[in-house]
Amino acid sequence: MKIIGIIASPRKVGNTAWVVNKILEGAKEQGADIQSWCFSDLDIKPCRGCLCCHEEGDPGCIIKDDMQELYGAIEQADALVFGSPVYMGQMSGQAKIFTDRLFAQISPRFSPHYKEKVRNKKLILVFTQGNPDPGMFQVYFDYTKHIFQLLEFDVKDVVVVAGMRNEPAHERKDLDTVMKDIGSTLVS
Ligand SMILES: Cc1cc2nc3c(=O)[nH]c(=O)nc-3n(C[C@H](O)[C@H](O)[C@H](O)COP(=O)(O)O)c2cc1C
Repeated sequence: MKIIGIIASPRKVGNTAWVVNKILEGAKEQGADIQSWCFSDLDIKPCRGCLCCHEEGDPGCIIKDDMQELYGAIEQADALVFGSPVYMGQMSGQAKIFTDRLFAQISPRFSPHYKEKVRNKKLILVFTQGNPDPGMFQVYFDYTKHIFQLLEFDVKDVVVVAGMRNEPAHERKDLDTVMKDIGSTLVS
């Protein structure tokens, strides 16, 4: 089983990276083939809305940046672990840019440009936040889950790790086993 982690935080050694990588570690222990991608290492530009990706023959996205490699990785993957810090109550700008760029590869049934190239991939959404109340942005997390379901991902879990302002993820003794278990469940 191939699982890719996508860390949509500008901080390579931050909370989101720690949580996503811990989930991947748990999956690896169950035999999964894992790879993780961090936005701090990537050049991914915003969608231009040119709709070239929906021209005849499906030429794909015309923006030749690091998203091209990610398109390939997503197509090959059985599951994705997509993590974002909460910025202003929502996903980070990097996470939104990535989500918009999926349009070249995954267009939902409600769209006039429906593509069924990539469907039913397992997905775990990860959010980390400074605020200690994990329910603070629940409406947004539920909405985001719904959007990824409309994009025909098989959303297995929405993991919210709160309270990062008081104690960063790598110092939280309780998180290690819990996150690895989530990763191992993804494989079974
Ligand atoms: C620009 C910015 C906006 C933020 N907005 C929120 C927020 O609305 N709610 C919250 O609980 N934490 C907020 N935070 C805190 C981050 O979500 C939290 O520190 C997160 O774990 C950072 O992840 P990282 O270490 O992967 O970058 C914000 C941080 C930044 C830098």
